[in-house]
Amino acid sequence: MSDDAPFPPKTPDPDHDYPQAGLERMIMPSPIAFVGSDQPNPEMPLLARMGPGHVFMMGDNPALPRMPKQPKLLDFFRLRFGDITFTHLLTSAKRALDEGHDEKIVLACLLHDIANGCLIRVDHGYWGAQLIAPYVSEEVAWAVEKHQALRYFADESVGYAYPESYVKFFGPGYDPPEYIHKEAEAARTHRWYMSARLITLYDIYFFDKADPIDPQIFEDVIGRHFKQPEEGLGFDGSPTAHMWRTMIWPNNFL
Ligand SMILES: [Fe+2]
Ligand SMILES: [Fe+2]
Repeated sequence: MSDDAPFPPKTPDPDHDYPQAGLERMIMPSPIAFVGSDQPNPEMPLLARMGPGHVFMMGDNPALPRMPKQPKLLDFFRLRFGDITFTHLLTSAKRALDEGHDEKIVLACLLHDIANGCLIRVDHGYWGAQLIAPYVSEEVAWAVEKHQALRYFADESVGYAYPESYVKFFGPGYDPPEYIHKEAEAARTHRWYMSARLITLYDIYFFDKADPIDPQIFEDVIGRHFKQPEEGLGFDGSPTAHMWRTMIWPNNFL
């Protein structure tokens, strides 16, 4: 390496390549990340630090990979989703694909836990369904919403048992709230029941034995069944564009 080659290699300079140049950009966590937890409420201490040189972050965070200007679905998988969601969604969709299911089922499996990727866990089926509703068929969004409730209830006729993982997550004998019972009951008699039920059949965690899967293998299925907006997800003015922008800039103050 010559003497004038940059070492370490050039990384984005937070003072010049990112917004709010020269200022310390503080991150105020969203209330849902700390309310009720043992994390103290950071609002007062952070507001007290505000002043010349200290502002709250708005725009690209140098700690995150930069998103393209017109982000597509797989950009969120690659650049925003956590490892567990990334692997879980790809594994679930790959199993549905390998077992010869319809492309709409493959897509539903690929998207079923999308809210957990970088947005919110609570009621994730509903958030996920809303995120994708403008871009997929009504059936796919419905299936994503209903998989949340159906996960708690066995269906012997298709070989779906109450998940072992839920016994570990929630403890033995956990009974979900009334709205989940009602949703699952209603879903069972719906004409799209099997679409949601199939999501639950492939909704298995493979923490140890997951082989890496290239998200690119789903490019064609996405192309045929997910209407990617030309302006990019987050910038097309759809009713859920703000939810995609929240994943692009999860640390924005407002
Ligand atoms: Fe789920
Ligand atoms: Fe899942």
